[in-house]
Amino acid sequence: MDRIAIIGGAQLHGEIPVSGAKNSAIKLMAASLLTDEPLRLTNMPRLADTRFLGKLLSRLGASVTESDGPDGQQTLLHAPEITSGFAPYDLVRQMRASFNVLGPLIARTGQAKVSLPGGCTIGARPVDLHLQALEALGAKIDLHEGYVYAQAPRGLKGAEITFPFVSVGATEHAMLAAVIADGVTVLHNAACEPELLDLQECLNAMGAKVEGAGTPTVTITGVARLHGATHAVIPDRIEMGTFAVAAAMAGGEVRLTRARPGLIDSLLVKLEEAGCGVEPTADGVIIRRSAERLKAVDIETAAYPGFATDLQAQFMALMTVADGESRIRETIFENRFMHAPELMRLGADISVSGGEARVRGVARLEGAEVMATDLRASVSLVIAGLVARGETTVSRIYHLDRGFERLEAKLTACGAQVRRIKGDGEAEL
Ligand code: UD1
Repeated sequence: MDRIAIIGGAQLHGEIPVSGAKNSAIKLMAASLLTDEPLRLTNMPRLADTRFLGKLLSRLGASVTESDGPDGQQTLLHAPEITSGFAPYDLVRQMRASFNVLGPLIARTGQAKVSLPGGCTIGARPVDLHLQALEALGAKIDLHEGYVYAQAPRGLKGAEITFPFVSVGATEHAMLAAVIADGVTVLHNAACEPELLDLQECLNAMGAKVEGAGTPTVTITGVARLHGATHAVIPDRIEMGTFAVAAAMAGGEVRLTRARPGLIDSLLVKLEEAGCGVEPTADGVIIRRSAERLKAVDIETAAYPGFATDLQAQFMALMTVADGESRIRETIFENRFMHAPELMRLGADISVSGGEARVRGVARLEGAEVMATDLRASVSLVIAGLVARGETTVSRIYHLDRGFERLEAKLTACGAQVRRIKGDGEAEL
């Protein structure tokens, strides 16, 4: 399996274009199942996760064509007919958000058999809220042998749904199912993440009537059918935040472009508090750090617009070399500190108790071999490697490839010493 090797010590100087958002792209791809006309998505990131989902959509009857158009990377998705309503375990297991094909399949064809996704390293991640929402819309749901069998032979019906707590995936799933349901659906306590607004814009371009996404109340007036559309995927706020933290870690000056600074305000405020220069621009942000050591600051993850859980690992890496002690509280996922022991292999001083990590900044990290445990954790190890003395090698980087497009190329273009070591057949346990 491939590994990434980083030689620490180089500052970052230059420009990094931010890609389209993975977490948005995969829900928008699922939306293509709702219509028999083509959906053209531009600003598409090319990632393992989008490839996995493309494979699944092809099995369900869609054609998925990637190309480089006048607007950059694009994907044309076209499902004239749903030829199968079956999403097997091996595909859903590889990429959890594949589960979100369930709603569009029931909405369009009245039936589906979709594997339950199972847990992952950051937590149990149940899908009970997704299923409750689909049941409220009139789907009959049975669970057998790890599969969801769903039926709605007379179509879905609009409903009032109040989520007991905020879930990004369940909100998106309910929106995807309700757009061609009969009648009005109102979602209360909906997630407010920017990707929801992106989904609303894409669905409305396809002829849907969705209002309020990005606020806790979303109203969906069902329409008889959706049509084709072209939609540009929102910039990836997590990728943008990751490179902002990388620049703060390595020092230097990096201009992030093709992005929207407003999407990561909660991070930028913390970077400024830590002593980093932050200058929003029309299409991104400039991050500057002089030789001075950053100050330790505390963070607590929260639903949007709070501090994103998907940036917690990266921020922890930054705090390992800050001056003082930082408290990092994780409130979204129950097991999202798997990167802490790996950072400690690099010399970080971290203690974890329940949902809180205390990070006591050290003067320097030392390069070592470390292992990626999940997508965002893996990039936190690369960030730590940027300042660790000597060489850091990160194994199991298939996690990274799921969600970061051309990571090494983007960092190397700014002067980092990062290279991919192709798998040598050595077994990884
Ligand atoms: C999405 C993002 C992920 C991000 C997370 C929180 C995608 C593909 N992934 O994940 O990167 O970290 O939002 O911003 O977009 N929960 C339940 N029952 C459910 C659904 C969720 O108990 O039916 C729990 C989860 O286990 C978790 C919390 O609710 O503890 C929030 O999860 P949710 O917002 O649904 O995250 P995802 O949509 O899975």
